[in-house]
Amino acid sequence: MSYAQSTTAEDHAVADLIQFLKFPSVSTDPAHNADTDQCADWLVTKLTGIGLAAEKHPTPGHPVVVARNQHKAGLPTVMIYGHYDVQPADPLDLWQTPPFEPRIENGVIYARGSTDNKGQILAHIHGVQQALAEGELPVNLIFLIEGEEEIGSVNLGAFLEANRDALKCDIIAISDTGMVAKGHPTFTYGLRGIAAAELRVTGPSVDLHSGIYGGAVANPATALAQLLATLHDKQGRVAIEGFYDEVRDLAEWEREAAAKLPGTDADLLSLSGSPAVYGEEGYTSTERRTARPTAEINGFGSGYQGEGSKTIIPSKAMAKLTFRLVPDQNPKRILERAENHLRKHLPPGVELSVHCGHSGEPYLCDPHSTAGQAAQRALQATFGAEVALIREGGSIPIVQTFKDVLGVETLLLGLALPDCRAHSPNENFPLENFHAGAKMSRHL
Ligand code: BES
Ligand code: ZN
Repeated sequence: MSYAQSTTAEDHAVADLIQFLKFPSVSTDPAHNADTDQCADWLVTKLTGIGLAAEKHPTPGHPVVVARNQHKAGLPTVMIYGHYDVQPADPLDLWQTPPFEPRIENGVIYARGSTDNKGQILAHIHGVQQALAEGELPVNLIFLIEGEEEIGSVNLGAFLEANRDALKCDIIAISDTGMVAKGHPTFTYGLRGIAAAELRVTGPSVDLHSGIYGGAVANPATALAQLLATLHDKQGRVAIEGFYDEVRDLAEWEREAAAKLPGTDADLLSLSGSPAVYGEEGYTSTERRTARPTAEINGFGSGYQGEGSKTIIPSKAMAKLTFRLVPDQNPKRILERAENHLRKHLPPGVELSVHCGHSGEPYLCDPHSTAGQAAQRALQATFGAEVALIREGGSIPIVQTFKDVLGVETLLLGLALPDCRAHSPNENFPLENFHAGAKMSRHL
């Protein structure tokens, strides 16, 4: 391809990316259901436009988009998975420019979803578009792009079961993970799993005057704070009985490889804005955030939150929890043990209800398999540098389900940079990575 042509192809790709990013496809918020649906329609039009047979499939939640080329006997079938839904953009006032009005500055595009995951999945679509423009693909291809990844892929498992034959493939590729540093290609061979729960602690039937009743009835906010404090011990370990029973230790080669990765504690502090690193004793920060399980409080609320003071005993308190899990922990078993722990440690005078939410299993694959090595060659050819092998701390809940239902391994070839601000204000994606992603897809 000549320089002039490739510039034009890249310009078109960026124009597409801007359109894709303008849809506020926030899956968790029903107020955005229409936007999410329109975003799926946009993808169908895009995929059809490059010559694939594309369809939007309804689910009980947000639709799944599936596209394929003309399949031929004897060719391997590759599935490329991604998601078009995004996390909520709040807090809006911390964005330099509005989250759904993409802005390009110094070769970096800023918008919710730019890295996670619209930029990365669109890079694959553009790679395929370029390849199709030059002739037929050397593989049977299936794009599977869902609208519920950020809420735990709650309906995709059933969709896979129902469409097992149509989705039959030999290997799956995903770009929805990170690179250890700019220009440093990275193959992810492990993901943490996740299990979510919401706790509701109730006391009096209404908020009470804390002078009239304080001291004589239990305070749900205090009780929940005490309860949450029992989740960890003083060494930063999760104190739930049996929590670590099935945790597989890191192999020696993994600890050695992790120790050689770029990224120091100082980098972690500057990227996170935290005053100090903290975690389970006996593990490095990299090990703690990728290969060790955690219990996190994601949200915590009770009582008066407005200006000034209000002297009440709140009638209720709530907390949202997620557990990040590693091989061989099982989300269901962990939630059962967590509930037992919480009931055992509930302070007197209040009631507790535990509502289990979404969950996804951890994933580990062999980076030295034939397919794993092919993925690493594609990364090496694209970026011209040695490939880092890592485990990621984030979760892509459907990946282990792909293995369970379709019997297929997944290759994780991430394009996200450490400072991409996924899920945070001012999420961004360098156009350089976007274009590199298209090349990588072709190499793969
Ligand atoms: N792209 C992320 C997964 C990810 C994050 C991989 C960081 C590697 C590093 C994905 O979109 C995501 O955010 N997943 C959620 C899943 C959850 C809501 C079930 C996550 O990890 O919180
Ligand atoms: Zn995400």
